[in-house]
Amino acid sequence: MKLWVVGAGGLVGSVLKKFAGVVSFRSDVDIGNLRALHAFAKKLRGITHIVNCVAFSNVDQAELQREEAFCANVFGPENLAAVARALGARLLHISTDYVFKGDGSLPIVEAHPTDPVNYYGWTKQEGEKRVLKVFPEACILRTSWVFGEGGKNFVAGLLKKLQEPNEILLTKDHWGRPTYAPDLAAVILQRLDASGVFHFANAGAASKYEFGLAMRDEALALGLPILSPQITPVSGDAFAGCAPRPRYSVFDTSKIEAVLKTPIRPWRECLREHLCSVKLKEF
Ligand SMILES: NC(=O)c1ccc[n+]([C@@H]2O[C@H](COP(=O)([O-])OP(=O)(O)OC[C@H]3O[C@@H](n4cnc5c(N)ncnc54)[C@H](OP(=O)(O)O)[C@@H]3O)[C@@H](O)[C@H]2O)c1
Repeated sequence: MKLWVVGAGGLVGSVLKKFAGVVSFRSDVDIGNLRALHAFAKKLRGITHIVNCVAFSNVDQAELQREEAFCANVFGPENLAAVARALGARLLHISTDYVFKGDGSLPIVEAHPTDPVNYYGWTKQEGEKRVLKVFPEACILRTSWVFGEGGKNFVAGLLKKLQEPNEILLTKDHWGRPTYAPDLAAVILQRLDASGVFHFANAGAASKYEFGLAMRDEALALGLPILSPQITPVSGDAFAGCAPRPRYSVFDTSKIEAVLKTPIRPWRECLREHLCSVKLKEF
């Protein structure tokens, strides 16, 4: 097996790159450019599997930089599907809970109709469709609220805010399932030969507010320097100028659980593990 991790500089890609035979960063090749991608792939030998970790992942910025978001999230996966076919390699493409409208109250299964509420979600939905059109045997792995050590993510941002002496506002009406990047990477490695759509997230749902409270408690228990005096729950509408988010995008993960080798860990256990490793490295 020889794995090519595309987008190795991002949050998920930087965890997966340890397992790769080949890695590529944006500086190596822009996956929105089919000709450049074919030229890059032509130089590679013996690739059997490709994981696409590339995304234009800034949800608010995607509303403003539509062309760039389309290029990375729609043309990119479509081009990679074509390249995977040409190389005779398998393709696993990562997608998101933001393909859903999130107006329900029950965990969302893979077959639930997609209906994104923002441009980022729309591009991710379109990317999924194009991957499956070009390469029907590809695997689409949807995940949600990813946190970990590489790249930018909501946990890193929140930890920074917790260390400042200011009140923090977090939404109480957006629900999801947080996902630890190393757990996601382990699942990706198990599904490299799979076809079809799967949902993966760590176990347990939370609002951003609940997650923030848990994070403050865990950080305090570890002795991290937390200075923020209060976390206040607010409605999602409080964040003027932000793109709308799905209100309830909690995944049903029973399809993937049936084929995984180990049970899915609760997000809080992963959060503790993550904060321990942050403490060792940064404090
Ligand atoms: N993070 C989450 O909470 C979350 C939740 C659900 C699903 N996902 C999905 O998980 C996957 C990985 O996300 P992530 O959080 O790891 O993203 P990330 O940290 O933003 O990393 C994305 C990487 O893609 C690169 N990139 C962007 N456009 C490119 C292009 N046109 N050509 C080549 N490289 C390009 C970026 O490079 P630059 O840094 O140079 O821009 C960056 O290294 C994505 O499919 C995302 O939609 C993420």
